[in-house]
Amino acid sequence: VTCGCICECLDPLNATQCLPSVLIIGVRKGGTRALIEMLSLHSDVVAAQNEVHFFDWDSHYQQGLGWYASQMPPALPGQLTVEKSPAYFTSSKVPERVRHMNPGVRLLLIVRDPVERVLSDYTQVFHNHLQKRKRPRPLEALLLRAGEVNAAYKAVNRSIYHEHMRRWLATFPRTSFHLVDGDALIREPLAEMQGVERFLGLRPQISTNNFYFNRTKGFYCLRQHGHERCLHESKGRAHPRLPPDVLQKLRDFFHEPNRKFFQLVGRAFDWD
Ligand code: A3P
Repeated sequence: VTCGCICECLDPLNATQCLPSVLIIGVRKGGTRALIEMLSLHSDVVAAQNEVHFFDWDSHYQQGLGWYASQMPPALPGQLTVEKSPAYFTSSKVPERVRHMNPGVRLLLIVRDPVERVLSDYTQVFHNHLQKRKRPRPLEALLLRAGEVNAAYKAVNRSIYHEHMRRWLATFPRTSFHLVDGDALIREPLAEMQGVERFLGLRPQISTNNFYFNRTKGFYCLRQHGHERCLHESKGRAHPRLPPDVLQKLRDFFHEPNRKFFQLVGRAFDWD
């Protein structure tokens, strides 16, 4: 059964594909895959496997909410449907489109040290280029223009969180958002996930048994019903090393944007 409405329309006898009532809007390379996988450990959550790009790709948006719902996994009564497309955070037309679907939607934003995020973003593009047999450009050539940090370079721009968040806050109240600390999720996933459970009104269920540290991967992996799995090898890759002066330039560049972001969301992160 597919319906274009929010989850109230559920038939108690049938699993129904519902529009998401929770969106992970970004940020790209913040730990969005880890977040949705960890949230899926909860039995009251079902999550779309792929990034649907409904709100940011016009060709998808034009297919309408019925199509969007048809991309969701079946949900039972009481289960929350979650979708994540990290490009939502930085795409200007998305907030209004999301509000049009459901002004009460709950929004999860996972942020990470913006400098680390730039390096992670570059690493992702680097690997994509290699896969397509294209020659990746050197990081420094992309990062710097006339010796200064190039704010127009996409990987830098995506890390200027306050600019994107300002647009979202023009459309949704602060209470619609829960911020997840992506650096803390790496170190201590349970505490972050307990915060997410509280925000979503889920009964506390995710526990220490759901996580174990995998020394080979260097990250926490997941355990559910006795089955253990780590995230894909593309998650948790080594980053390029920058010369110390360039790294410092990047840190200096983000100092002010970070302050603005902290002020905007009423919360500080441990980034400098
Ligand atoms: P790196 O690969 O640069 O280390 P996203 O899913 O949004 O693309 O984010 C990817 C990032 O998730 C990874 O970036 C990694 O640091 C982070 N991450 C957080 N928890 C993780 C986990 N348990 N396993 C693997 N990666 C994790």
